[in-house]
Amino acid sequence: MTTDNVLAEIKNLHTYFYLPEGIVRAVDGVDLTIRAGRTLGIVGESGCGKSITALSLMQLVPSPGRIIEGEITYYKTIHKTAATSTSDVIEITKLKPNSPEMRAIRGNQISMVFQEPMAAMLPVRTVGAQIMEAIMLHQKVSKAEARERAIDILARVKLPNPDRIVDTYPFQLSGGMRQRAVIAMALSCNPNLLIADEPTTALDVTTEAQILDLMRALQKEFNMAIMYITHNLGVIAEMAQEVAVMYLGKVVEETDVTSLFRNPLHPYTQALLRSIPQLDDVMARAGKKKRLETIRGMIPDPYSVLPGCTFHPRCPQYMEGVCNKAIPEVIEVEPGHTVRCHLYAAHSARAQAS
Ligand SMILES: Nc1ncnc2c1ncn2[C@@H]1O[C@H](COP(=O)(O)OP(=O)(O)O)[C@@H](O)[C@H]1O
Ligand SMILES: [Mg+2]
Repeated sequence: MTTDNVLAEIKNLHTYFYLPEGIVRAVDGVDLTIRAGRTLGIVGESGCGKSITALSLMQLVPSPGRIIEGEITYYKTIHKTAATSTSDVIEITKLKPNSPEMRAIRGNQISMVFQEPMAAMLPVRTVGAQIMEAIMLHQKVSKAEARERAIDILARVKLPNPDRIVDTYPFQLSGGMRQRAVIAMALSCNPNLLIADEPTTALDVTTEAQILDLMRALQKEFNMAIMYITHNLGVIAEMAQEVAVMYLGKVVEETDVTSLFRNPLHPYTQALLRSIPQLDDVMARAGKKKRLETIRGMIPDPYSVLPGCTFHPRCPQYMEGVCNKAIPEVIEVEPGHTVRCHLYAAHSARAQAS
């Protein structure tokens, strides 16, 4: 991994929810780097803090959640030629969620697409009206011009008859078409970063494959970075170049996608990989009644604070007196491949000695 082309950087992010029942440490010390034009995949079971990490980046954490520590830096490109580019450094965590500066970033520099396309669109307004509104919010264009651009962007997300679709209501579209319309809305201001939070989870597999193809094509066309959130490692394999695996509010492993699948280091990542069906497993199960391996144990309740590594109660390689005692540090096991796990502590000691 190179150090240049950094578009956004999350450092030591802590986002907590203060509830009458206790504190939910939704994001508990996350570091992530997003590079221009590349896709960072975030993967982990439901509840591990993927969405709240993304919402923190947009300053859209719902109450009673709050960023309590950490920095999010966004490098806004203000001048770019073939040889040089200058950027404006924006400290997102220092901006108020409703400030004009933050609103200028949201939907313009950074856009987001969610799992449920219906939630992103108002049911009572046409698709076109909503895209036009997004365009006119950030750019000084006439209504007629905004409509032209809306039709153009609907065509770019491969919706058939965009000049008709522009006047339809969201409920008149199928789930897949609606998600295309939502992606069109997110792209209407040409963002440098698109956050896609499980955008295909509600769709059938054929439609999902089409949307993934579309997003890859649009990434090339618009040269934008994507932060792709999913619980599905198969989708990660198709979409991401770098991957961060999250467990209970922490990144437990991070590397490029090839190393993750070839050499998964964290026992949690290994367990996630064992829980995806391989074709030969599926064939074998069709004959015999072999069950797919699930990760043993349950995710602890969100209010509990576990000592040591938070994966230790479920870990097949648990070491008594080590894993339940100290929080593991981030260890770089090979260049660009980091893991938070005591199993690799010897490796880090060796690296320091040499
Ligand atoms: N609005 C909220 N109020 C209270 N707790 C929340 C809220 N949103 C998320 N959480 C909690 O924060 C943790 C992380 O949630 P989330 O980021 O949505 O997980 P993921 O997207 O990985 O499924 C979970 O324990 C969840 O219950
Ligand atoms: Mg989520």
